[in-house]
Parts: sequence; structure tokens; C-alpha cells
Amino acid sequence: MVWNPGQYLRFGDERSQPFHDLLHRVPVSTAGLVVDLGCGPGQLTATLADRFAGATVIGVDSSPQMIAAATAHQGPAVHFELADIRNWQPPRPVDVLVSNATLQWLPGHLGLLGQFWSLVRPGGWFAFQVPGNFSSRSHLSIAAQVASPRWRSRLDAAALERPRSAEPQAYLDQLATLGAETQVWETTYYHVLSGPDPVLEWIRATALRPVLALLAGLEADEQAAFEAELAERLRRAYPPGAHGTVFPFRRIFAVARRR
Ligand SMILES: C[S@@+](CC[C@H](N)C(=O)[O-])C[C@H]1O[C@@H](n2cnc3c(N)ncnc32)[C@H](O)[C@@H]1O
Repeated sequence: MVWNPGQYLRFGDERSQPFHDLLHRVPVSTAGLVVDLGCGPGQLTATLADRFAGATVIGVDSSPQMIAAATAHQGPAVHFELADIRNWQPPRPVDVLVSNATLQWLPGHLGLLGQFWSLVRPGGWFAFQVPGNFSSRSHLSIAAQVASPRWRSRLDAAALERPRSAEPQAYLDQLATLGAETQVWETTYYHVLSGPDPVLEWIRATALRPVLALLAGLEADEQAAFEAELAERLRRAYPPGAHGTVFPFRRIFAVARRR
């Protein structure tokens, strides 16, 4: 499935805040090797070279479009690699392993935490953030429309890629089982978005991507009809107010230190 870096960056400020809040809770300022798993368009990855003095930073992503965008941020201390993070190996043990808004795309990622954890050196850190909003009105609106009589016969819902996260306690338990000193927390951001149909534009780059991939098999007028119907649902779910469109977004964070 194709990622669109330009669309993804339309809400760059809102999407980057959790990354900064996550890194704020990693209490070291120097590091040798820092890795960003699922680095996306790379502009946040590049900030890690300033955040950790002396660090070599590697960003890894499986999307050729994202890595192409990320190369604009390459520098002497910042490199990008095209790879599936489930198979990727670092050149040496990692001091700080970061993953922002990515693990939810890996089916069964809770069971993969041990594999990622094994990449971290003793005394090193693993910090990740995943959305915790899969029962929000935006996701429910997509699910309701895909399952509606008009669309369920046209879209093969069984083929949908379904991002998922676990509850905070599950991450805490899993990381504790691995022997990590762990902090887990959650935050709901109340983003105030502007412009027409901003929630549709937000999810177009992320949660809606799997549906857009299925829609690509339909005629252009059917694709447009699907989007118009979803826009209407989302306007009802997130009516524009005096300040803009408020889009609550729950996120789950974990920072773990290897003993
Ligand atoms: C929502 S974006 C997050 C990008 C970036 N971390 C950020 O915070 O802006 C998710 C990224 O995960 C990447 N991704 C998803 N599954 C992956 C996998 N198995 N291996 C590597 N990257 C993956 C996607 O290509 C995408 O760039």
C-alpha cells in the first residue's frame, strides 16, 4: 500500500507533537546509535541528531515514497534505509530505539516487542507511541460505511489492512515481562483543525489508506461517491465549531530502559 508523504505532512505540527512528547521522557542527552523504526518522511528522525549529542541516527521505513522524501533530511549523522522493520538488523546494539505512530501497522505487534527489545543495548532505551483511537468516531465512521449495504458488496472488507493497538496495561505487562523498567501513559490531544473536511484530509494519509487502496479498483465516480458520503459522516461526527474542527486523538506512549 502506498504512503503519500505530502498528504501525511499536511498536519505535520499536530502529528509531530506526540513524537516530541515521547522523546521528552527519555532522560538522556547523549547516545551512540539512535534508530527510528518506521521513520516516515524523516523530518522528525533528523531532529534526533540534535536531541542526542554525538549520535548516529538511522531511519528505517518500508515505504519507497517515504524513504524518497526522507533522503532530503539525510546528513553526516543521519541515514535512511528502505526495509521492513520486522526483518531489519542494526549494525550494532542500539542506544535509543524510537518508533512513533508505526507499530500499529504491524499485525500482532505486541508479540514483536521482544524482537525490537533485543536490538537495544543494556542501559539503552526503547520509546514508542501508538494511536489509541481505534474506537473513535473517525474509525467507527469508516467501518460503518464499509459495512453499509451500498458499499459492502463493492469492497472486499476481508482484504482490509487493519491497524490496531493494545491498551496501555498490555504494553506495560509485555515490557515488564521482558525485564524493562517501564513507563506507560496515554494522552488525548484535542487538535483544532481548519479548512474544509479536515478530518477526512487527516485520515486520508493514515487510517483511510487501506480503504483507498480497495477503492482504487472501482470507477472514479464510485470513488468520489464514497468520499462524499464519508465526508458527510465525518462532518456530522466532528461538526465545525467557532474555533475550527476539534479532533480528539488518544495516543499511548511507552518508554522502557534496558537494565
Ligand atoms: C504514520 S507513519 C509514521 C511516520 C513517522 N514515524 C512519524 O511519526 O511521522 C507510519 C510509517 O510506518 C511505516 N511502516 C509501516 N509498516 C512498516 C514496516 N513493516 N516496516 C517499516 N516501516 C513500516 C510506513 O511506511 C509509514 O511511513
